[in-house]
Amino acid sequence: MSPNNRDTGRNRRSVAVIGAGYVGLPTAATLAHFGHRVVLAEREPTRLAALRSGRMPIVEKDLDDLVAGGVAAGNLRFVESAVDAVAGAEFVFLCVPTPMSSDGSADLSYVEAAAKEIGTHLEPGTIVVNKSTVPVGSATMVEQVVGRPDIAVVSNPEFLREGTAVHDSLNPDRIVVGADDPQAAAKVGELFGSTGAPLIVTDATTSETIKYASNAFLATKLSFVNALAGLCEEVGADARDVLLGLGYDKRIGFEFLRPGPGWGGSCLPKDTRALLYTAREAGYDFSLLAGAIASNDEQLERVVSKVVAACGGSLDGVAVAVWGLTFKANTDDRRDSPSLDISHRLAGLGAAVQAFDPTVDADTDPDGGGPEDLRGLQLRGDPYDAATGARALVVLTEWDEFRWLDFARVLAVMAEPNIVDARNLLDPAAVRRMGFSYSGIGRR
Ligand code: NAD
Ligand code: UGA
Repeated sequence: MSPNNRDTGRNRRSVAVIGAGYVGLPTAATLAHFGHRVVLAEREPTRLAALRSGRMPIVEKDLDDLVAGGVAAGNLRFVESAVDAVAGAEFVFLCVPTPMSSDGSADLSYVEAAAKEIGTHLEPGTIVVNKSTVPVGSATMVEQVVGRPDIAVVSNPEFLREGTAVHDSLNPDRIVVGADDPQAAAKVGELFGSTGAPLIVTDATTSETIKYASNAFLATKLSFVNALAGLCEEVGADARDVLLGLGYDKRIGFEFLRPGPGWGGSCLPKDTRALLYTAREAGYDFSLLAGAIASNDEQLERVVSKVVAACGGSLDGVAVAVWGLTFKANTDDRRDSPSLDISHRLAGLGAAVQAFDPTVDADTDPDGGGPEDLRGLQLRGDPYDAATGARALVVLTEWDEFRWLDFARVLAVMAEPNIVDARNLLDPAAVRRMGFSYSGIGRR
């Protein structure tokens, strides 16, 4: 785990973090690791209880060690109320949700409510930091809600990825801070000084734009890659080699070049739509971004079509095995998961979807009060069970363990040996040799 924690000495600050989710928890633990005194507020009772008893409420590599280290050093503690957390804090990080509203804009109600909740309780001179992903104008909005001239608000967007959140928090590519008060922005940057990351100090509007621009760029890159893979299928090119040829160009690079079932997760979908909303409000026609979003929906449908074709043209009453429900591997997050979306589209076409995911408990009963997003799916306890009797197996999330299964056993339990590999996870030649018919994304 690097950079090593160190005594920040006179730079040791008192920090409150509001919201112990995928961003707030790694942020709080990272700041504690850097030697700051951190109080983390989480109002959701099960998340708070888990943290207080030393369990992690989310699946995130190395997070347990980072949190335990902070607690053991006396640098990290958990409270229920944001008001309690801000007592004595010099900095308050808002890490609350900003989900998508029905019109595509970012729903700022949690940010607004948190700002209202803490406003009168902040110490004079406290700096409030918007780490939640919030659109242009949000720093001003929080300033107005807090309504105190002695409180500065700084935009400090977060760029961590789920699954590698601890690594990303300790080794960020850059720190962005934006405020109308450059001194307040610089002070927030100093909290992360030991990362050694490049620091961009700018105004709030620019900082807020950087966050959305980053996610929109990544989404657009993936839409291009997925569309290119589709073209490769039509002309008989191998997308894997095409992308290898692209990636070696340093201006393009290898990151975010894996074709898949479509991009999803708790952020790319909502953030691209929120940026589009911002553009529309500003009277700007961002048709490129609109195209990237539309293209992603086509990709989900393309995977569905592959499954329909593999099953002979109809899914009515057909058992289909699904491996993977989370939006990517190494997380338990199913928010806006393409894997889940495709599973529901298959079920909507009449398929009996037998789904396995390593993070989903097969004993939960979605149709009897369990998680609503799993309703209509038949959950299975292992990948073989999911494949039993299926006419097609669809690999939707790239869990590494799927590579190493006994495919002779998979072949034996399936009704028909069809694989649709929406992550290009398997070796086509190897599974074809075993007798499977294989369809990947852009692969021959
Ligand atoms: P999350 O839903 O996992 O966590 C938010 C937490 O805040 C919840 O546990 C909720 O109970 C708590 N909360 C809300 N209001 C509260 C209050 N007033 N007091 C105490 N607790 C409160 O959300 P997340 O995924 O961590 O996302 C948070 C923000 O960070 C969003 O704006 C998101 O876009 C942004 N972001 C997320 C990621 C990511 O990988 N998930 C990465 C970068 C940025
Ligand atoms: C993304 C960004 O990468 C983070 O920088 C950002 O902080 C975060 O959103 C956020 O704002 O919440 P994350 O949602 O964790 O992080 O997931 P990614 O790793 O970016 O993957 C997003 C989607 O793209 C997933 O569905 C994933 O499977 C897909 N993907 C990613 C591909 O299909 N191919 C790739 O090569 C990479």
